[in-house]
Amino acid sequence: GPTRLWGGRFAGGPADALARLSVSVHFDWRLAPYDIAASRAHARVLAGAGLLDADELGRMLAALDDLESACAAGDFRPTIEDEDVHTALERGLLERLGSLGGKLRAGRSRNDQVATDLRLYLREHARFVASAVVELADALMEQAGRHIDTPAPGLTHVQHAQPVSFGHWLLAHVQPLLRDLERLRDWDERAAISPLGSGALAGSSLPLDPAAVAKELGFKAPVQNSMDGVSDRDFVAEFLFITSLLGVHLSRLGEEVVLWTSTEFGWVILDDAFATGSSIMPQKKNADIAELARGKAGRLIGGLVAVLTMLKGLPLTYDRDMQEDKEPVFDAVDTLQLLLPALAGMISTMTVRVDKLAAAAPVGFSLATEVADWLVRKGIPFRDAHEITGSLVALCAARECELEDVSDEDLKTVSEHLDPTVRQVLSVRSALAGRTTPGSTGPGPVADQLQIASDKLDGW
Ligand code: ARG
Repeated sequence: GPTRLWGGRFAGGPADALARLSVSVHFDWRLAPYDIAASRAHARVLAGAGLLDADELGRMLAALDDLESACAAGDFRPTIEDEDVHTALERGLLERLGSLGGKLRAGRSRNDQVATDLRLYLREHARFVASAVVELADALMEQAGRHIDTPAPGLTHVQHAQPVSFGHWLLAHVQPLLRDLERLRDWDERAAISPLGSGALAGSSLPLDPAAVAKELGFKAPVQNSMDGVSDRDFVAEFLFITSLLGVHLSRLGEEVVLWTSTEFGWVILDDAFATGSSIMPQKKNADIAELARGKAGRLIGGLVAVLTMLKGLPLTYDRDMQEDKEPVFDAVDTLQLLLPALAGMISTMTVRVDKLAAAAPVGFSLATEVADWLVRKGIPFRDAHEITGSLVALCAARECELEDVSDEDLKTVSEHLDPTVRQVLSVRSALAGRTTPGSTGPGPVADQLQIASDKLDGW
């Protein structure tokens, strides 16, 4: 078609099969606003270099503005003839400016353009993802604030381990999200480098000003090396690692909500608006959001692996393989922009069954560690305290009774060190209250933790 950017040396048009394989405009069209922003900066630099006069620059910028509005309104659309977003937008410019439109390509290649566009897109969307993460962290913190004093059975190996505060548990899901936010911020430091000026790979013989372009587009600096400028996709791979790890965190939260809402646990009831039903079983209420959080981690991780694998053997500089970098990041952004608000809504509206949690907290001899610690405070080496408590648990397991049901005589039989005052530590309340060191599950440290987490989130 007449819109191709590279017709000159070719005898005819591309084969249909090639055109169909090579086209990217159906997915890279979302880069149009960023490509236009970069074009504005490039037009100014061409004018500064004396390659556009003042009148030409004015008409160029006006046409870019017009094209931008037409794209936003849907009045200008890519056609199947347009190979990619850059091709489509040059067509739009030519339609508006005639041959003047063809001047903008000087000193610039799709290789440095696409790298610039994708950085601009990702820097903006990393912020959108971050604010959706903040929303979920807020929802978890709000629930945590209500349950600082709610006892729950803390698990290891999905076996009852030690009682914890349910607020503490919810805040344990906030900490990874805070780290993900830090990772996004830290990533942006390295992503904020402008490839424009790299040209196809060797820079430009025209007097361009990559630093001015970088500044206008909100980057910290231009690239140091034009070959790296068009080859580097670290910013894509790093972004996909962060979204994959975030996906893993959401998946672990999702898995817990699936457990908590099961009949066997029964700790949490989802709001009807954030649960789904069954087409055949009228009684069903399913945690599909939580399951989709678990499931979508797979595609996020898949995107990371796809991009790393695509990059691993590529010779410098630009290779067409790199066109495969975009769909995984677009999919990661889309996935998270759907998933995070749904999870936030599910968490903030769920009802926590305090009664069920409190009843389950001491089950499974979860206070056995309290007995061992009680013995330690009496001077018994922990190794011996562990053995003694283990015998006590074995006795209770055989008799199918709880630790506090053992008679004074039986306590003595298990160990001379066990006297009736040990029963003072056999309460979930005292187990929680006794955990006062920073980071512990006692009400004091949990309230502190909540305060620190919400202070951190205020910075976002
Ligand atoms: N659509 C291409 C991509 O996304 C743009 C760069 C094409 N450059 C080239 N020399 N074919 O990677």
